[in-house]
Order: sequence, then structure tokens, then C-alpha cells
Amino acid sequence: MMKLNTDLKMLLPLFIVYSLLSPCSATDYFQPEQIHLSYGENVYDIVVTWTTYSDCKSSVEYGIEHIALKAHGNTTKFIDGGSERRVMYIHRVLLSNLTSSSKYVYHCGSDLGWSGVFWFLTPPDESKWSPHLAIYGDMGNENAQSLARLQEEVQRSVYDAIIHVGDFAYDMDSDNARVGDEFMRQIETVAAYVPYMTCPGNHEQTYNFSNYRARFSMPGESEGLWYSFDMGPVHFVALSTEVYYNFNYGMKQLVKQYYWLEEDLKKASEPENRKKHPWIITYGHRPMYCSNYDFDDCRQHSTFVRSGIPVLKWFGLEEMFYRYGVDLSIWAHEHSYERLWPVYDYKVLNGSVNQPYQNPRATVHIITGSAGCSERTDPFIPNKPEWSAFRNSDYGYTKVKAWNDTHLYVEQVSDDQDGKVIDNIWLVKDKHEAFNNLK
Ligand SMILES: *[C@@H]1O[C@H](CO)[C@@H](O)[C@H](O)[C@H]1NC(C)=O
Ligand SMILES: *[C@@H]1O[C@H](CO)[C@@H](O)[C@H](O)[C@H]1NC(C)=O
Ligand SMILES: *[C@@H]1O[C@H](CO)[C@@H](O)[C@H](O)[C@H]1NC(C)=O
Ligand SMILES: *[C@@H]1O[C@H](CO)[C@@H](O)[C@H](O)[C@H]1NC(C)=O
Ligand SMILES: *[C@@H]1O[C@H](CO)[C@@H](O)[C@H](O)[C@H]1NC(C)=O
Ligand SMILES: [Fe+2]
Repeated sequence: MMKLNTDLKMLLPLFIVYSLLSPCSATDYFQPEQIHLSYGENVYDIVVTWTTYSDCKSSVEYGIEHIALKAHGNTTKFIDGGSERRVMYIHRVLLSNLTSSSKYVYHCGSDLGWSGVFWFLTPPDESKWSPHLAIYGDMGNENAQSLARLQEEVQRSVYDAIIHVGDFAYDMDSDNARVGDEFMRQIETVAAYVPYMTCPGNHEQTYNFSNYRARFSMPGESEGLWYSFDMGPVHFVALSTEVYYNFNYGMKQLVKQYYWLEEDLKKASEPENRKKHPWIITYGHRPMYCSNYDFDDCRQHSTFVRSGIPVLKWFGLEEMFYRYGVDLSIWAHEHSYERLWPVYDYKVLNGSVNQPYQNPRATVHIITGSAGCSERTDPFIPNKPEWSAFRNSDYGYTKVKAWNDTHLYVEQVSDDQDGKVIDNIWLVKDKHEAFNNLK
């Protein structure tokens, strides 16, 4: 006993010096930061997610116009995979059964520290809603050129939600995940006001996508790797294209996603579901087609995502999309914008020559990965392929508005040209059904 006490006394100064020098000193940090929203199982369920660096409870105080209610949630300890093994606490609180057409205010935290007050709007009755979204991929901390325009538009309530189609921060795990923290702080300016829906890209793959899985809260049971949700007339399906390229984490994920997707599309295609949410829109990071001047897989004829894994040709998605009549597929990865004619297996299947997007006979693909990142933008090969309709390498992002069951509007905004709309189409469908029924 005596001996131990003496040893401890001798160690005490050492311990103090260590505490002062250590980068992960035990200083408590309970202040919420990196606050962002996402949809829960429906659009009247909002999940608030944030980070603290010390362990504490998770609460949100909220209400219509003023704070009146309180909800409690979960705190999860996240240890980054980098050499410092940095620890952070991810807080998740579900605000459920929200009232439609309302402006909610909220703040989050615990008795040890609260955030400032943010707000969000809830949609009207879903059957009378024309949701409007900003969609893009490949936005980093450095050179996030589109972010300022998005911040401004979000404050003017232009959007109901934002979809970020993979590749964040460059990279979230970099500098012992400090780059991830910085990115999440940067997007708080939009993501604390509208649901920020995501899917993983290749830049998230380090430590088995752990930063991605820890920091975002998407619906479903896959930790945000694949899931679906409905917004008014749209059934959105998020996919991980990375399961086709990251076999170092096993092939199980690929198989799981594939069978989940088939089930999800089958369910979405049941007549009563398709009637409620006629548009099926998928998003995933790496495209099936592209005409960029690089060596990415989308330049190959038999893209893994499109035709399946090499040699065996299993788990390809194009045929499945065709079979369930996926209306629109949105991709990123290429740092540019490209719109395709309706295409299936390299065959252009326009609705008609003059109205290619009116009752098209195949899925329409759009690649939108030019939001802005340190890797700049990607050029195109000189001769535009027959299936490619429009291409542009300006920084920018895509806006999608599902007006109703028959009309969906897509436009591309160039940030380089001060917000100019450089491309737009109306996708018009009298009927939403499997494309192979049309033959
Ligand atoms: C909190 O954790 C429980 C159990 O894991 C889970 O069922 C619940 O959905 C979580 N709540 C939130 C808001 O994530
Ligand atoms: C949802 O809120 C309404 C009032 O706004 C209430 O009547 C209803 O019971 C609530 N439903 C659930 C499942 O909590
Ligand atoms: C990677 O993470 C997933 C969960 O997203 C898990 O199911 C899988 O087992 C992990 N793989 C490895 C090799 O750690
Ligand atoms: C599809 O429509 C566009 C626009 O009208 C036209 O330029 C193109 O040639 C059409 N392609 C086919 C294969 O019909
Ligand atoms: C659907 O929206 C389009 C574009 O706003 C409009 O022209 C059309 O009349 C609408 N259709 C119905 C049935 O409301
Ligand atoms: Fe990428």
C-alpha cells in the first residue's frame, strides 16, 4: 500500500505534463457543432444529428415558431481509425409526427451546452406537394464553389431537401478526421435548415466508410449506405456504388444491397405505391455511362454498376432499373454535368424524335459531380457519343422539381456563370411502368 502511494506521487507531475501536452487532453467539450438534418422514416420525421467531443446527453428543444417541446435521443461514441484515434460523440434525436406546412425552430444539446437556434419547414399534405431539391456530388472543404449559392438559396427556402451524391470533404478521415469535422461545420449552414440526404462515394471508403456511417443518419438499416424514402410524388432510392469497387471489405455488402434493391423496387412498383409515388429516382456515386476524358469505369463499355461484376456479370443494375421503370438515375464522381438521352444498353430510346423526354422508353441518366472540390473539374472526350445529350464542365449543381405525377423538371445551374441555368428538361410521363412492358 505504502509503496503504491509513493509510486503514484512520483507519477503525478508526469501525468500533469502529459495532460497539458496531449492533443486529446481531457478538457471537456460539450458544445454541439456540425448540426444537420435528415428525414426519418417519412418526411414528417426529422432526425437532428450533431457532434460533441465529450460524452453528454442528446436533446432537442423545438416547436412551431417557438420552442415548446423536448425530444431525447442517442449518443454514440465514434473513434476515428486514424493514428490519433480521435474520439467524438455523435448525437441523434428523432423529431416525429411533425405538423405539416409549419416553420419549426429548434436547438440541440444538453444541460452542458446548447447550440444556437435553427429552423426548418415541414411539407404540406404530401399529395399536394411539389418537392424541390438541389442535387450534386463531389463537394469538398477546399474549393466548395457552389456552397455560397446554396447557402443563399436555402435561407430563401428555395429547397425542400438537398441530396449529396457521394464524395465529401476530400476526405472526411483526413488529418485524423479533422477534415470531416471541418466539412460538417461548413455544410451546417445548409444542412441544419433542410434535410441533407447522402450516399457514399469512393472518397469515403477509408476504415470501411466509418466516418460516413458515423456522421450521417439516413433512414433504413444499412447505416446510410443504401436506403429509400418518399417525398410527395417521388420514391428516392440511394445506393452505394462502392460495393462494386471495394471488395477489400467483402462482397457481402454487394449481395445484400442488390437483394434489398430488388425488394425495394418491387414494393415501390406495387400499383397502390406507384400511384402514390409514381416517380422512381435513384442516386449513386459512380455512373453507368459518361464521356469524360479520363480512365474511370464509366468510360468502359461494361461498367460494373451497369453490367455487373467482371467476368461473371452478376448484380448489374441497368437491367433491374429497366424492369422496374426507374424514371431518373442521378450520378456524380465525374466533376462535370452530363445529361443522357433515355438509354438502355447503349440504345437511345427517345419517347419520340421531337420529344425525347416525353414518355421515354428507358431510364434517363444525369451525372452531376461539379459542386466543387480540390480536384477541380473534368473535361470530356472530343466527340460526344450518340447517347449523350448535353455536357458541361462548369462548377454547379442540379435542381429537380417534381411538379406532379406527370411532370418533373430538371435544370443545371452554373456557378461559374453566376447562377445561369445552362440546361433544362421536362421529363413527362403519362404512365410510370416497367420499360419492358412497352415493347
Ligand atoms: C436510438 O437507438 C435505438 C437503439 O439502437 C434506436 O432504435 C433508435 O432509433 C435510435 N434513435 C435515433 C434518434 O437514432
Ligand atoms: C401526431 O400528432 C397529432 C396531433 O398533431 C396527434 O393527434 C396524433 O395522435 C399523433 N400521432 C402519433 C403517432 O403520435
Ligand atoms: C464493414 O462495415 C459493414 C457495416 O457497414 C460491416 O457489415 C462489415 O462487416 C464491415 N467489413 C469489414 C471487413 O470490416
Ligand atoms: C433522340 O432525340 C434527340 C433530340 O430530338 C435527337 O437528336 C436524337 O437523334 C434522338 N436519337 C434517336 C436514336 O432517336
Ligand atoms: C403538372 O404540372 C405541369 C407543370 O407545372 C402542368 O403543366 C400540368 O398541368 C400539371 N398536371 C396536373 C394534372 O396538374
Ligand atoms: Fe468519386
